[in-house]
Amino acid sequence: MLPGDLIRYKQNGRQITVLTAWDSLSSSIVEAAGADLVLVGDSLAMVVLGHETTLPVTLDQMLHHAQAVERGFCKPKDKQPLLICDLPFLSYQCGEDKAVEAAGKILKNSSTAGVKLEGAEPEIISVIERLIRMGLPVMGHLGLTPQSIYSLGLKRQAEDESTQRKVISQALRLEQAGCFSLIIEHVPETLAGELQSRLKIPVIGIGAGEQCDGQVRVTADLLGLTPKQPPFSKPLISGREIFIQALQDWVSNQNYKATNPTKAASESKLDY
Ligand code: KIV
Repeated sequence: MLPGDLIRYKQNGRQITVLTAWDSLSSSIVEAAGADLVLVGDSLAMVVLGHETTLPVTLDQMLHHAQAVERGFCKPKDKQPLLICDLPFLSYQCGEDKAVEAAGKILKNSSTAGVKLEGAEPEIISVIERLIRMGLPVMGHLGLTPQSIYSLGLKRQAEDESTQRKVISQALRLEQAGCFSLIIEHVPETLAGELQSRLKIPVIGIGAGEQCDGQVRVTADLLGLTPKQPPFSKPLISGREIFIQALQDWVSNQNYKATNPTKAASESKLDY
């Protein structure tokens, strides 16, 4: 599948599922779960690298993780999810040439099929148009854009009519620029619904209600692995507790075996 093929999903009314992955273990799991797209999101800065925001992650780190994600796919190439990678902060805001180099580096050195950029200010639109002319597919991202945390915060965006009008015109501009899809994060459901009906490209939501063409989630949030999930991304299971409990049991068992050697079953003679 190519990024441009996603439009057929929208035309056929088939919901698009997008999950993030950050290494080969997580990508093998989200691939097996059947996600259509796997996003190497810059949220990995917080989820995996322990930063407070997404800003510190570098282009080389994104590439490193995209390559690990790619190695985790087990299905035949034509059955694998489409791999998309975020361009990190400052890899595309400093001009078109730098952005082409950054996106080109990701696509040249991994099987990533497209990149995601945040925002739609005129400078970003010029960058996106140039990337697309150079044959580099682009996914847009509006609403809550975490790379702008220090100007927008992490609160729900586009609460009033004028900011909603701005988001709609930016989304239409991204479509006109040639983006193959749009992520819309943490905005009112009615706005997401309007974008879904006005845009031909798929609108994929997170914290944007059910009226989108698809949904994206940070996999670690969905599995309850992160210490605190965003309010708009409810965990499916309490992953942290489940894992901690299992490991605590294992740790106590080691102590039990040390003090009761005859009762403990030996695993060491089993073949790998
Ligand atoms: O970085 C990320 O994981 C994202 C998703 C929240 C859409 O951009």
